[in-house]
Amino acid sequence: MDLFKQIDFSNIPEHIAVIMDGNGRWAEQQGHERLYGHNYGVESVREVLKGAKELKVKYLTLYAFSTENWSRPKEEVEGLMDLLIRTIAGEVDELNSKGIRLMTIGDTEGLPEGCRNELKRAIEITSHNTETSLILALNYSARWEILNATKKIAEKVIKGEIDLNSIDADIFDDALTTAEIPDPELLIRTSGEHRVSNFLLWQIAYSEFYFTDVLWPDFKKEDLFKAVLDYQSRERRFGLVSAQITK
Ligand code: FPP
Repeated sequence: MDLFKQIDFSNIPEHIAVIMDGNGRWAEQQGHERLYGHNYGVESVREVLKGAKELKVKYLTLYAFSTENWSRPKEEVEGLMDLLIRTIAGEVDELNSKGIRLMTIGDTEGLPEGCRNELKRAIEITSHNTETSLILALNYSARWEILNATKKIAEKVIKGEIDLNSIDADIFDDALTTAEIPDPELLIRTSGEHRVSNFLLWQIAYSEFYFTDVLWPDFKKEDLFKAVLDYQSRERRFGLVSAQITK
């Protein structure tokens, strides 16, 4: 049965976040170096982006490089940065023609110059697009983001720009790198791991989690549709009781 046809278009998550995991294991299973898996992972990025657009998902956030990933072997880190530069440069026109806007979250100042320049160019070119936003989490760590937001707010308090007692969730939201982006309703993690790994810790307070054993290079459009169907089968209560939820 066609999964796409089973989807309820009145209940599509506005924002889906994905922890793309399993590239290394996938490559090793095929007897290849880890970078081979990352290369194939780009094909899954294309697929999932296509699927998200078909579903009219407004925001798709992909955990592409965590702050912790710098500790991986040098060749893998360099290979990932190179892959990122080549992919962005090669895809920007396609993204633009499809109405997709590229954004980043994370400490992008800490990325190599070539990568920063390519991202800056692609972000500018696609900035007017409104169809779907593809948000790449790069040099991202949720704890870094939360600490950074705290410092920004503290600075405003010290300067007398805001009152300590006026600090609320909205002010905190605005100080995060995801300001202007709604919280994800759905968080997907591939490869059978059941961890959050320092991803969007503030923003996933009420997200539904979907875990699958599928390794990222094998994750295709149909897998995204499965995740969305699973999400649609759940009742989101936000701390209320079932009877209080108006359908
Ligand atoms: C996790 O698999 C994957 C990553 C850390 C990198 C993801 C990067 C890509 C898919 C390619 C570049 C992306 C874009 C958006 C152009 P892993 O290496 O942790 O796998 P393992 O757990 O099996 O070792």
